[in-house]
Amino acid sequence: MNRLWDRRRRPERGWDPVSAEYAVIYADEVYRTTGPALVDQTEALYGDLAGRTVLDLEAGPGQSALEFARRGAKVTWFDASRNYRAIAERRAADEGLELDFQIGHLDEFEGRYDVIFCSLAWYYCRDDTAFARRLITALEPDGLLYCRINNGDYLRDAVRSQPASRRYLVLGQFELYARTGIKLGHPQCDTGRIAKALADAGANDLRLHSERGTTLISARP
Ligand SMILES: C[S@@+](CC[C@H](N)C(=O)[O-])C[C@H]1O[C@@H](n2cnc3c(N)ncnc32)[C@H](O)[C@@H]1O
Repeated sequence: MNRLWDRRRRPERGWDPVSAEYAVIYADEVYRTTGPALVDQTEALYGDLAGRTVLDLEAGPGQSALEFARRGAKVTWFDASRNYRAIAERRAADEGLELDFQIGHLDEFEGRYDVIFCSLAWYYCRDDTAFARRLITALEPDGLLYCRINNGDYLRDAVRSQPASRRYLVLGQFELYARTGIKLGHPQCDTGRIAKALADAGANDLRLHSERGTTLISARP
């Protein structure tokens, strides 16, 4: 069903998942609150990023993409949203940073990279197995995959204050996906399913670290 739906929502034909108004609000928030911690963590796992190719997959307004570029990496900003792209381009230009900007659907990125960085976007992929395979095969031999996801615990906390009808709908959508792999819409990520998809895709050195509903996943090809 998601595949059929996605055929109508093509970023290259102008579909944008994020309104211009929301893009500004989210950008203000993350540029104010996100420090370099995630990029520090990536660098601690990979090593020096200078001169390395980094794909920031679903990079949003670009707060991490710009940080990678500040450290001398050759950065590809990739996202489905032109509204975020406009913000990231303007901020990069303000700092004199050069990035490659590409618009497309999450599952359809191309190229090979030393580092693939994907923060809070895995749930928009159509199929965990195919997406995991694409990620692992797009890494250079000594490459690193770094993913950050909100998991089921995050969801259970987040829906607590919502009306019962909405709560049961969202939790039902998540449980269906977690138990069967069937995705209706974009359910919250299930850590076990993602780890299995990456392992099946041939990932090595798979590491998971969960904290307060967020899981960091890193892997090597
Ligand atoms: C929560 S934001 C995360 C942005 C950034 N990686 C971060 O950590 O701040 C999710 C990203 O996925 C993108 N996206 C892709 N497909 C989407 C969809 N179907 N609905 C909403 N957002 C989608 C959005 O444009 C957005 O940049």
